[in-house]
Amino acid sequence: MTQLSTGSAPADPTVSNAIGAALTTVRRNIATFGDRYPDDVTADGRYPLRPATDGIAEGGNWGWTTSFWPGMFWLAWELTGDGEYLSAARRHTTDFVRRVREGEDIDTHDLGFLYTLSCVAGWRLTGDTAACAAALAAADHLMGRFLEPAGIIQAWGDLNDPAQRGRTIIDSLMNTPLLTWAAEQTGERRFADAVRRHAAGLREHILRDDDSTFHTFYWDVATGAPLRGATEQGAADRSCWARGQAWGIYGFALNHRATGDSTLLDASRRCADYFLAHLPADRVPYWDLVYGDDSGAPRDSSAAAIAVCGLDELAELVDDPAASAHYRAAAEAILASLIRHYAPADPTGSDALLLHGVYDLPKDRGVDEGNLWGDYFYLEALSRRTLPADWRPYW
Ligand code: GLY
Repeated sequence: MTQLSTGSAPADPTVSNAIGAALTTVRRNIATFGDRYPDDVTADGRYPLRPATDGIAEGGNWGWTTSFWPGMFWLAWELTGDGEYLSAARRHTTDFVRRVREGEDIDTHDLGFLYTLSCVAGWRLTGDTAACAAALAAADHLMGRFLEPAGIIQAWGDLNDPAQRGRTIIDSLMNTPLLTWAAEQTGERRFADAVRRHAAGLREHILRDDDSTFHTFYWDVATGAPLRGATEQGAADRSCWARGQAWGIYGFALNHRATGDSTLLDASRRCADYFLAHLPADRVPYWDLVYGDDSGAPRDSSAAAIAVCGLDELAELVDDPAASAHYRAAAEAILASLIRHYAPADPTGSDALLLHGVYDLPKDRGVDEGNLWGDYFYLEALSRRTLPADWRPYW
């Protein structure tokens, strides 16, 4: 059994046991996959190899989710000090250095997810200068998607694609921390200005008056005018996709931390209050918050894991002890349910750390399966309770 970190936080045996089980799976996955990458989601509890695409061989580093893999290894190393995790994290981080150098599948806003958990984490934890340079190159490339006069970062696709032009998505709030980091590293205001304007635009338009969120929102690229909300992975344009709402909790909180803009903290609170008010009895949401306990809809455990981390962050940032205690208690309740009902009872039974997620129900992708981001945020949530109190997330 892996030795856990001697962090200052008191060891809750439920959390320690959950980490022990999770790390058993992480260690086995390192042995199974080596330097290759699993697909986004499990199939019947097992991660297939990432399929080949566009000149990239099977198991290669493409798509938006591969960094959750080294992200888990960095966390595992911080939790244990075990060199096996460090070595795996370093090998994969080196592949991210290569990915941006070779320009392989980098025309996406997801560069934030990809480079924060690989190269920024590697730079922060080990001082790896190649990782630092690669993360700065990724941040610079991401700035190419910042559209004037709208002041938003286009999420997906070619900048000239009429279907995607001027469209951003709530998840992008987790990509801007790469730009915040780049601003800190370089002192260049263009990065911080993009973060401030993009986050303010989402607060204004993707967050609705009733505190639910659109999944995506379009701006007119010529005039900068806000146009309309639309969904891609939710039940309907005006429903509230559970994972989007969770990205809003965490993302607005992180962007408040970066900018000091109090309206972003308020936006995080509004997302959290709506999310918590729409949870079913076991505190893990159905994949869209329109569904309740009589719906028979699948859950999205990954939305719950993201929300735990976001609520933790919110609890630290709010300047009101009662609100802080409320968000902390909500996070504990959700995590307790994940540990008890959504982590595999027997870690040998699944490659995933967390069962019962949904990737994209309208496209029938990863429904009631594990997924890489659910695994990562579950381990981050557990780590937050075990690592020293001054530990900071990689975002
Ligand atoms: N960022 C894509 C998703 O949450 O599915």
